[in-house]
Amino acid sequence: MSDRKSLDELSRRFPASFLWGVASSAFQIEGASAVDGKGASIWDEFCRLPGVIADGSDGKIACDHYHRLESDLDLIAQLGVGAYRFSISWPRIQPTGRGEVVGPGMDFYNRLVDGLLERDIEPFATLYHWDLPNTLQREHNGWADRNTAYRFAEYAALVADRLGDRVRSFTTHNEPWVTATIGHELGHFAPGVKDRAVAMQVSHHCLLSHGLAMKAMRSSRSNLELGIVLNLSPVYSATDSPADTILAAREDGLLVRWYMDALLRGEYPADILEYLAADAPRTQDGDAQLIAQPLDFLGVNYYNPIVSVAGRPFSPAREGATVTDMGWEVAPANFTDLLMRLDRDYDLPPLFITENGAAYPDLVIDGGVQDEDRRAYIESHIRAIADAIDEGVDVRGYFVWSLLDNFEWAAGYTKRFGIYYVDYETQARILKQSGFWYKDLAAAFERTHEFIAERT
Ligand code: FCB
Repeated sequence: MSDRKSLDELSRRFPASFLWGVASSAFQIEGASAVDGKGASIWDEFCRLPGVIADGSDGKIACDHYHRLESDLDLIAQLGVGAYRFSISWPRIQPTGRGEVVGPGMDFYNRLVDGLLERDIEPFATLYHWDLPNTLQREHNGWADRNTAYRFAEYAALVADRLGDRVRSFTTHNEPWVTATIGHELGHFAPGVKDRAVAMQVSHHCLLSHGLAMKAMRSSRSNLELGIVLNLSPVYSATDSPADTILAAREDGLLVRWYMDALLRGEYPADILEYLAADAPRTQDGDAQLIAQPLDFLGVNYYNPIVSVAGRPFSPAREGATVTDMGWEVAPANFTDLLMRLDRDYDLPPLFITENGAAYPDLVIDGGVQDEDRRAYIESHIRAIADAIDEGVDVRGYFVWSLLDNFEWAAGYTKRFGIYYVDYETQARILKQSGFWYKDLAAAFERTHEFIAERT
């Protein structure tokens, strides 16, 4: 099949209202970490610790997006996509996590939103993509303290007030499991705590803050579409052994059911509460109802399945599997399985795939980047979504992670996820082959749906 025919065929598998987008997050691309009144975040602080970031780097400059806003917006527009998911840096607009708004910081997001709308791109704003104001961590124990949830709701109301006239879709947290478990139990991410009881308390406070923020934003503006983003993976047992099978049920409980049950059923799973025993979070009357408010949509981030095997918590690949540069298994069929399982087990709101993509070691040759691996990864996962839609799952949009190569947390700049290559020496951006393909898909989608509309 010719490229054009295959793209037309693929794009016809999605409804005309389907939203194609690209995603990023503040700390990973903005840089400008201490300008215009911005406060330090826990990631600014964490990067200062020796040995925690693979290449010893930090987010001081990153992609310098803060200073290259207009030209980066042009890069999004050149893709022809309909939406852009970005996050707001809390300490850029409230340096200590409370109180007055910093003008220039807020103005950056005003310009970002206006620039998107001028280019006909729908903004999808995430309130928390891991960069907590460091003052809240240092002086108030961060997410381990219940008060942080109330600070977050105030911040959310403030953002809704300032941006909600132009931004319709907001998500509260990005991947609260990562904040809790990677940040506070495994300690690989900021703030680097290693204590399971703290991690579970953090998880509860993040979910509580989501509920409080939803309420605060709704009362500030009634026309918003509000959701949360979870990292969800189907969990498989590595072997048939009872030990691995039990572990798989538990890892599914901690990663998927803990969050899904709390948000959509108003309770934590009983088996996991029992397993956690003394490490289970302290909660208060009414918390469960706050957490389980109706969602307008749910954001799902999917990269790989989880394979449960003793001694390797949340292992991201089966033995011998094809993996990306992160060591994450490439398993598009498991993505379809995940979506169908969510649809079967829960009364779901509409879904958006808020992140999906792959890291590969790109090389610039003759001014271009031939990243066939990434292109194939993206295509196969888009096809996996089409399969789930065929099975009746209500998926409304897809965001590639990521617009640009960027600061990949503990991996620093050693892993590249962008569909635009970033030369960190010069800050030049180069559209990779995967990006050209995605752009062609967006164009095919327009073309085929205009054609269908004219015929009907
Ligand atoms: C997700 C994060 C995102 C990016 C991708 C690769 O867990 O939300 O910021 O790092 O992984």
